[in-house]
Amino acid sequence: MKDKENMIHKIALQFEDGVTEFVHCKDGEKLSDAAYVEKISIPIDCRDGACGTCRALCETGTYDMPKSTYIEDALTDEEASNNYILTCQMKPTSDCLVKIPATSDACKVEVKTYTGKLKYLEKISSTTIGFTLSFENADKFNFLAGQYVNLKLPNSEETRSYSLSSAPGASDASFIVRNIPNGKMSSYLDQTAKIGDEMSFTGPYGNFYLRPITKPKLFIAGGTGIAPFLSMLDVIKTQDNNESIRMIFGVSNDVDLVEIDELDKHSENLSDFKYRTCVTDEKSTHERKGYVTSHIDEEWLNGGDVDIYLCGPGPMVESVRTWLDKKGIKPAGFHYENFSAS
Ligand SMILES: Cc1cc2nc3c(=O)[nH]c(=O)nc-3n(C[C@H](O)[C@H](O)[C@H](O)COP(=O)(O)OP(=O)(O)OC[C@H]3O[C@@H](n4cnc5c(N)ncnc54)[C@H](O)[C@@H]3O)c2cc1C
Ligand code: FES
Repeated sequence: MKDKENMIHKIALQFEDGVTEFVHCKDGEKLSDAAYVEKISIPIDCRDGACGTCRALCETGTYDMPKSTYIEDALTDEEASNNYILTCQMKPTSDCLVKIPATSDACKVEVKTYTGKLKYLEKISSTTIGFTLSFENADKFNFLAGQYVNLKLPNSEETRSYSLSSAPGASDASFIVRNIPNGKMSSYLDQTAKIGDEMSFTGPYGNFYLRPITKPKLFIAGGTGIAPFLSMLDVIKTQDNNESIRMIFGVSNDVDLVEIDELDKHSENLSDFKYRTCVTDEKSTHERKGYVTSHIDEEWLNGGDVDIYLCGPGPMVESVRTWLDKKGIKPAGFHYENFSAS
């Protein structure tokens, strides 16, 4: 049996600006104390459950916070029943994700830089490059499946954002990048990079991450927007899930259809995951042509009682949003990432 006192819960603190920082909370320890030890100044005043300054939202995970530890002025019954917490009283009993209503800057969070070595680099197709960075202290880099990092272009101060395609907790971080002609990072990866090169990034960032599966999910990916979904699917395969997951993966040209083997493996291994691909190029011989929205079955939308995750180039993200609006569908959950040049 695990020694309860020695149990450490990993708490993802998500700030208003999308920065995520992980703190480690011992069983029985209050969240604000654990954050303080790790030099994160989340908003706090009385530390006594009286003022409400430390109110936050616990999006996932379990915790103890008896009503006797705070007063109604600090947190109403309605707020408590909607998973709002007081970080000065809340004691996590599992890994949690807590949304802090302040920016990372205001909480003096130092966004960390991680440096890894290029362990794998391959042109997966004529338009797409895959690469993996390995770290010496891999356990120190945490993220939520779906998030991105800002990768520094070697010998320059410029950065580019890339979503992780690998699962959190692995010793490596993998990415899938569209090879844009004359793009600075694209050209570096295509022509200059070699195995063993050092690359650094900051992060993790972003609100596009996998939430608990409580209803059917619809994943909509465009081009290299497939990357964060591969990370999410790797996490989902470790969970007990009975809800359906449907995915449509659309690309411009046949050569952009990458990582199909991975998606096939997930279809075989996950209890209710099905995916489709489609290609917009008119010359393509693919069985499904046109935009992703032409290949989404009505039943995948479940009358709106569905969590939709959408990721890809800006115009595609916008056209899916407009399509949903026109159909009058207001999904129960809607999360998106726009890959427009940052
Ligand atoms: C949150 C976020 C996550 C992202 N994740 C990924 C990812 O996982 N994989 C991925 O491939 N990209 C991703 N991107 C896009 C990525 O950050 C870069 O914009 C892209 O890789 C181009 O960088 P570059 O240095 O090669 O080109 P640049 O030197 O920045 O641009 C060169 C030229 O190409 C144009 N351009 C830039 N991006 C595109 C594009 N997508 N399509 C067409 N033309 C373009 C520019 O306007 C410019 O004219 C993400 C963007 C954001 C904001
Ligand atoms: S700091 Fe006052 S209620 Fe938590």
